Amino acid sequence: MEQLKGLILSGGAGTRLRPITHTSAKQLVPVANKPVLFYGIEALVEAGITEIGIIIAPETGDEIREAAGDGSGFGASITYIEQEAPLGLAHALLMAEAFLGQSPFVMYLGDNLLRNGLVELVATFRESEPEALILLTPVPDASSYGVAELDGDRVVKLVEKPEDPPSDLALVGVYMFGPEIFAAARSIEPSARGELEITDAIDALIEGGKRVEPHIVRGWWKDTGRLEDMLEANRLVLEDLESRSDGELIDSKVEGRVVIEAGAKLERTTVRGPAIIGAGAHISDSYVGPYTAIDRDVIIAGSEIEHSIVLAGSRIRDLPARMEASLLGKGVTVERSLGMPKTLRFLVGDHADIGIP
Ligand code: G1P
Repeated sequence: MEQLKGLILSGGAGTRLRPITHTSAKQLVPVANKPVLFYGIEALVEAGITEIGIIIAPETGDEIREAAGDGSGFGASITYIEQEAPLGLAHALLMAEAFLGQSPFVMYLGDNLLRNGLVELVATFRESEPEALILLTPVPDASSYGVAELDGDRVVKLVEKPEDPPSDLALVGVYMFGPEIFAAARSIEPSARGELEITDAIDALIEGGKRVEPHIVRGWWKDTGRLEDMLEANRLVLEDLESRSDGELIDSKVEGRVVIEAGAKLERTTVRGPAIIGAGAHISDSYVGPYTAIDRDVIIAGSEIEHSIVLAGSRIRDLPARMEASLLGKGVTVERSLGMPKTLRFLVGDHADIGIP
């Protein structure tokens, strides 16, 4: 089999992660202080795939380009391909036809995370050379995914977001294709949501008698489209962390698996892992609990925080209660305002979500 290429889809509006995605691409929201997108790039490179195309949207493309660059930082070569409007995954794939040519390829949705990476899957794909290899995983509610119907280990049918799912097997956002997929993508019509669905294109392959092989994913998989999923992904990645402390600790205590980056400073603070504290963060008189990722240059004083993601440059001060299950964007300030009158004071953007005890 020819050398595989990679195609990462990093467009999409990210509506379910607003307001973060008003100003930033969803694929750049960090999980354990690293943009989700980077996990996908690294997984491809680890599987020996270094020629990578990234589909970008006009709104967030520049930011993605700036973050991932020419790929050399990952040992890859990245080509950016613009998709002018979010017309579906199969549409995105057609935009990349010139880049992909006749090469077999891995298509990877840029907001997906796969714990066990791609090495084994790529080996299986190379060995059996089907027209498509799809990854499946059982989920509690399959109706918000593409769903597969199997007969033994043969895929009989695929449907996108069915009201009444034929099985609990969701399509994971990582696919392997041969060049036949382009004709299949051209043969389908837009779905009810107005998109050319990749699920329908693969289903067209099956209808056309082509070989579509299923692979049930072992280890966890996460689509980080919503806050709950993002926090869950953060938790899962932090679980695998190896402890390391390059920061400065003054009268502070670190328990469990914790990474403290160089230039971070902890004073009279307890960090209970798994947690990560980014470079240049300054935390004093505080408690940072399990499953928390504090990004670079964050300042936390006199506060308790756990099971949360705090993006770069934010400030949290003197909170009267423990903050949890939260995602703070970049440069956000949350502080207690003392004095009278005792009021709540906000300057928040569109679609923010605030909970007060
Ligand atoms: C897309 C696919 C769906 C798949 C999911 C995985 O859904 O259309 O088949 O199960 O990704 O993340 P979307 O994220 O567009 O709702």
